[in-house]
Amino acid sequence: MSPSTDLSLLSRRAVLKGWLAAGSAAAIGSTILAPVAQGNDAKLPATPNCGTDSGPTRSSTEGPFYSDNPPQKRDFRADANGTPITLIGFVLTANCLPVANAVVDLWHANADGDYDNRGFRLRGYQKTDALGRYYFETIRPAEYGGRTPHYHVKIHTPPNNTLTTQLYFPDEPRNELDHLFDSSLLMKVQSASDGEVGRFDFVLG
Ligand SMILES: [Fe+2]
Repeated sequence: MSPSTDLSLLSRRAVLKGWLAAGSAAAIGSTILAPVAQGNDAKLPATPNCGTDSGPTRSSTEGPFYSDNPPQKRDFRADANGTPITLIGFVLTANCLPVANAVVDLWHANADGDYDNRGFRLRGYQKTDALGRYYFETIRPAEYGGRTPHYHVKIHTPPNNTLTTQLYFPDEPRNELDHLFDSSLLMKVQSASDGEVGRFDFVLG
């Protein structure tokens, strides 16, 4: 893939494959699929990165719908219908070093704005790889009860640290109406040929 690659022409699988092949955290810490997407950066909203003045990723409330002991799972696509999205990113230290084996725990509403409070649909965790990377295959959640669409995430790192936060979509008109919305928690989102790709890097304090 060249710097001018149009992600909308690629499948999510191809985008993911390219991203996983891209290399170190430092080389791809600032764009949705850097170095691939660096040439397209002007089209992307800015999100906080490690090594900047923005500080660590801000925490946010857990909300009422967390379920303990979720399964280890990265592919939620069989759990619900909706716009497919591949969520990718890093877990990094404040000095941009990758955090391997961080537990990334994701849960969110379905395309009707409902949570699965009995089972573990649209719930699961995985561990970052040696380069601090995580990815999930899931869907875009819908708004519900005054909340703009969002993902819930917990990042657990040894020995006993947890970052609980939420991620948001840049194109949602309800963002500014949601009192919990935080623009520093906006993902970068781009269209692929068969859905969307979202990018967010977590920077630990
Ligand atoms: Fe929620």
